[in-house]
Amino acid sequence: MFFAGVDIGSLATKVCIIDEDEKLVAYLIEKTGARIKEIGEKSLEKCLKSSGLRREDLRYVIATGYGRNLALSNIADEKVTEITCHAKGAKKLFPDCHTVIDIGGQDSKAMVLDDSGKVIRFTMNDKCAAGTGKFLEVLANTLGIELEKMGELSLNSKNPVNITSTCTVFAESEVISLLAEGKDVIDIVAGLHRAIARRVGGLVRQIGVVEDVVMTGGVAKNVGVVKALEEEINARIKIPEEPQIVGALGAGIIAKEKFFQI
Ligand SMILES: Nc1ncnc2c1ncn2[C@@H]1O[C@H](COP(=O)(O)OP(=O)(O)OP(=O)(O)O)[C@@H](O)[C@H]1O
Ligand SMILES: [Mg+2]
Repeated sequence: MFFAGVDIGSLATKVCIIDEDEKLVAYLIEKTGARIKEIGEKSLEKCLKSSGLRREDLRYVIATGYGRNLALSNIADEKVTEITCHAKGAKKLFPDCHTVIDIGGQDSKAMVLDDSGKVIRFTMNDKCAAGTGKFLEVLANTLGIELEKMGELSLNSKNPVNITSTCTVFAESEVISLLAEGKDVIDIVAGLHRAIARRVGGLVRQIGVVEDVVMTGGVAKNVGVVKALEEEINARIKIPEEPQIVGALGAGIIAKEKFFQI
């Protein structure tokens, strides 16, 4: 018996297929783009194909993420919020997890779980690009560096620049001025990671940090942001092997639980 979770995020669509022992059978990450309904369907088909499974092999499918409503009409049996799915996925991978920080492409969220994994407090920023993956994408573009290299690059900084603008658009102007002053790109990148960590740190403090802390979402792949955030919240952060699929994994596990009515 197989189950699937489909997380249609604002920037990336993630699919996880699990078996009845909650073992990950296959996963996939695709760009979401503008055709939200199609991307959910196409991604699920592609993931099924890669694992040699057919649609009929899936007993239950849960959709989550920003495009979850559209997925309901064609691929999913039910929809569940991202908060619940990220919590479920993080708890599965790290049983002692009590705080989850999810930084995605367009928003950032933090939640505190009780010992059973139930979300007892949460907060989110979905009003502004500051403190999200989009902030880093825009600034990577301004600096002419690859997003995937930002993290490693910043670890070599000895003098991180203080970025004072919270707003993405103003931060871009600030970075252009800093470049004109001759500041080192590495130090600017480290400063940007600190800026995002300050912003997300404020969010996390609203709900209180309870260890173990786990970070999910695509931005967790940036080691510079993780390090800056650890300093900001004064706690070690655990990172899953593939942090971007944790919401889809949680959705898959919830699909299994709903099927067996656990
Ligand atoms: N290797 C990487 N290094 C740094 N950042 C990355 C990497 N891979 C992906 N990202 C960033 O992760 C973000 C996408 O993450 P994710 O898939 O969790 O977002 P999403 O679920 O689409 O967004 P949201 O939850 O806000 O709707 C993008 O901003 C992207 O820039
Ligand atoms: Mg997301």
